Order: sequence, then C-alpha cells, then structure tokens
Amino acid sequence: MSSSLQIVLLPQQAAVKLRLGIFLISAAIFVATAAAEVSNSSCNRTCGSLEIPYPFGTSKGCYFNLSFLITCKSSSSSTSTPTPYLRVSNIKVLNISLDGELRVSASVARDCPQKSNYNSSKNNTNLTLQKFPISYSKNVFTAIGCDTMGLISSSASDKNYMTGCVSLCDSIDNMVNGSCSGIGCCQTPIPDGIKDLNVLAGSLENHSKVMKFNPCSFAFVVEEKAYKFSTLDLQNMQGKRDFPLVLDWAVGKQTCKDAKKNTTEYACKAANSECYDSTNGPGYRCNCSLGYDGNPYLSRGCK
Ligand SMILES: *[C@@H]1O[C@H](CO)[C@@H](O)[C@H](O)[C@H]1NC(C)=O
Ligand SMILES: *[C@@H]1O[C@H](CO)[C@@H](O)[C@H](O)[C@H]1NC(C)=O
Ligand SMILES: *[C@@H]1O[C@H](CO)[C@@H](O)[C@H](O)[C@H]1NC(C)=O
Ligand SMILES: *[C@@H]1O[C@H](CO)[C@@H](O)[C@H](O)[C@H]1NC(C)=O
Ligand SMILES: *[C@@H]1O[C@H](CO)[C@@H](O)[C@H](O)[C@H]1NC(C)=O
Ligand SMILES: *[C@@H]1O[C@H](CO)[C@@H](O)[C@H](O)[C@H]1NC(C)=O
Ligand SMILES: *[C@@H]1O[C@H](CO)[C@@H](O)[C@H](O)[C@H]1NC(C)=O
Ligand SMILES: *[C@@H]1O[C@H](CO)[C@@H](O)[C@H](O)[C@H]1NC(C)=O
Ligand SMILES: *[C@@H]1O[C@H](CO)[C@@H](O)[C@H](O)[C@H]1NC(C)=O
Ligand SMILES: *[C@@H]1O[C@H](CO)[C@@H](O)[C@H](O)[C@H]1NC(C)=O
Repeated sequence: MSSSLQIVLLPQQAAVKLRLGIFLISAAIFVATAAAEVSNSSCNRTCGSLEIPYPFGTSKGCYFNLSFLITCKSSSSSTSTPTPYLRVSNIKVLNISLDGELRVSASVARDCPQKSNYNSSKNNTNLTLQKFPISYSKNVFTAIGCDTMGLISSSASDKNYMTGCVSLCDSIDNMVNGSCSGIGCCQTPIPDGIKDLNVLAGSLENHSKVMKFNPCSFAFVVEEKAYKFSTLDLQNMQGKRDFPLVLDWAVGKQTCKDAKKNTTEYACKAANSECYDSTNGPGYRCNCSLGYDGNPYLSRGCK
C-alpha cells in the first residue's frame, strides 16, 4: 500500500506530503492494532500438546474476548508439560475445534459407603462453565453400579433442573460389556443450555448386598463415544478419575442476522466465510464456505 504512494513530489507539494505521511503513519498504526486484536503473530498458540486457534488465546490481544481465554500453567516440576485451563478455573482443556466444540476434563463423582479396599468416601462433581453450555447431543449422563442412583442437577438461575438414573442388580452375570441399559450401568440424556452442573452418586442400601463385586457408585457426564461400559468398571472405574466432556462454544450473544449489522464486532472476518446460529444457547459460529478451508475467524483465514 505505502510503496505505491512513494512518488516523487515537487517542493511545493512537501506540505501535502507531510500531511499524507502523518495520515499514512496513523493509518498504519490503526491497521496494526486492528490486526493485533485478531491474531498477533507473537501470540503463543500452543500449551502442552493443545493447539489454541483464534478466537481462543492465552494472552491479551490473542483472544476474541475474555470468555475465550486459555490459561496455560506450567507445573512446578520443570520436566512435565504445561496444562491448559478454561479461563481462570481448574477445568482442564483437552481439545479445541473450530467447528464449535471444546473438550474439557470432568471428574467422576463417587460414593463408597462401606469401608473397603477403596476406603469410605463420597465425592460429587461441580462444574461451572459460565459461558459455554454442555453439548446435549454429544454427551450423556452415566451412572455405574448395582446399588446406584446417579443425580445430575443445575442450579443456574436460567435453567433449574434435576434428573438422573438408577441401576440395581444382584450379580454381574446378566451384564454385557459395551451395553449401558440399566444393569450395572444406566444413562440419560442431558437438556440443552446447561452451563453448570452438580453430579452426585448415591446408593439405596449402602452396597451391602453387592459389596463383593461393586463397592462404590459412580456418576459422570461424558462424551458419548468416549465411554464404553465394562464390568471391570464396577470395582473402581479401572482407576479412571475423569472423562472428556464436550462443550458447545459460540461467539457473541446475537444471531447471525443481528451480528452482521455491526461489522467491527462481527467475528466471521474471513472472505469466503459463512455464519450460522448456535443450536445450544445464544450466539453464532463461523464456517468457511464450500471449497474453502481454514480459520473463518481470521481475516484471511479461509483458503
Ligand atoms: C508457549 O510456547 C512454548 C513452546 O514454544 C510452551 O512451552 C509454553 O508453555 C507456551 N506458553 C504459553 C503461555 O502458552
Ligand atoms: C481434536 O479434535 C479434532 C477434531 O475432532 C481432531 O482432529 C484432533 O485430532 C483432536 N486433537 C486431540 C489432541 O485430541
Ligand atoms: C485407604 O486409606 C489408607 C489410609 O488413609 C491409604 O493408605 C490407602 O492408600 C487408601 N486406599 C485407597 C485405595 O485409596
Ligand atoms: C474429590 O474430588 C476432588 C476433585 O476431583 C479431588 O481433588 C479430591 O481428592 C477428591 N476427594 C476424595 C475423597 O476422593
Ligand atoms: C457443589 O455445589 C453444591 C451446590 O452448589 C454445594 O452444596 C457443594 O458444596 C459443592 N461441592 C463442592 C465439592 O464444591
Ligand atoms: C468385559 O471385558 C473385560 C475385559 O475387557 C472382561 O474381563 C470381562 O469378563 C468382560 N465382561 C463380560 C460380561 O463379558
Ligand atoms: C448399611 O445400611 C443399613 C441399613 O440401611 C444399616 O443398618 C447399616 O448399618 C449400614 N452399614 C454401614 C456399614 O453403614
Ligand atoms: C464474550 O463472548 C461470549 C461468548 O460468545 C459472550 O457470551 C460474552 O457476552 C462476551 N463478552 C463480552 C464482554 O462481550
Ligand atoms: C459495534 O460494536 C462496537 C464494539 O462493541 C461498538 O463500540 C459500536 O458502537 C457498535 N456499533 C454499532 C453500530 O452498533
Ligand atoms: C460448514 O462448512 C462445511 C463445508 O462447507 C459444510 O459441510 C458444513 O455443513 C458447514 N456447517 C454448517 C453448520 O453450516
């Protein structure tokens, strides 16, 4: 841009050149700030093994807004890789994909009412996601055990609900690996728009009758395809303490139609990009048009 304007000017045009120069400098500064907001090349886009595409980012100027902050924490021992967290929380981020999915790690709620190899313990799971709702199409609520009641509730003011499932059985004999239909394992879908949850595992008869093969109850929300029931889980979930959970992320609070009215704020910056409304809560997402590939949130992202 500037090189095409580097023409030789006659002396009487010097004042014009000066003013033009000032204009070009301020224009250059303006372009630089605008670009920095979108994606500064100095932005660190990895944390451990996680790739962090815009609109997400680890530092100011690298994310769309604070909802998309990823905090990268290196652990005390310098040998281990750093861990990414969602905003300022203890929720671990596993994967971010540009089609609107964010995988996080969620812990398993447990209830071990009797003294056993696993000791007596009770632990529920609380998750506060603030902005991005839990995907109702990709996740399923799951409870494991033979004297087991799993409950899931949300107390967010906009969505107050509780649901769950029960699994009662007296032996391992009728169970089928990979089948979660109520014998040793039960599942129930979760509603849309859930942004915080509390998961609780409990029992009806403190496992006294099933102690031999099932000392504890377990409950968790999990990406459906990431969990297959195994009878080995009845003991202690084979040591697993957390599972992947899919969140639906979206930009803004408006629909595409409304968002397009404000071009400075509109997030689908790429030429050859399209906008579509979120199907789980407010906001919209961007997509490269057919035949193009890349990051539609960056001004030259779709190639
Ligand atoms: C930045 O990148 C390096 C690897 O180049 C990585 O070790 C580090 O954790 C990253 N830091 C942040 C804050 O993302
Ligand atoms: C993250 O998800 C994408 C899309 O589902 C997949 O291609 C990629 O391999 C995943 N990365 C990791 C580290 O799981
Ligand atoms: C049970 O508790 C004891 C004493 O606190 C501890 O040494 C042991 O590792 C615990 N067992 C399990 C399976 O957590
Ligand atoms: C309960 O869960 C939290 C978070 O997963 C964990 O830090 C804590 O050790 C657990 N407590 C027990 C008694 O298992
Ligand atoms: C989880 O949330 C419930 C309800 O808000 C609260 O009573 C409970 O103490 C929380 N548990 C933990 C481990 O934070
Ligand atoms: C389920 O699979 C585990 C090992 O993968 C095996 O030990 C167990 O017997 C299987 N249970 C049934 C009911 O087939
Ligand atoms: C288990 O429950 C029964 C009745 O519900 C009670 O009598 C018994 O004391 C309980 N056992 C333990 C170890 O808590
Ligand atoms: C940031 O983006 C999120 C998600 O799109 C949105 O809910 C939130 O209102 C935005 N915050 C601000 C301050 O614009
Ligand atoms: C567009 O969004 C920007 C940033 O939020 C705001 O300052 C501006 O007033 C908005 N413009 C219109 C026309 O709404
Ligand atoms: C996003 O773009 C791809 C490729 O053009 C297309 O297959 C897909 O259906 C689009 N998704 C949505 C939700 O529009």
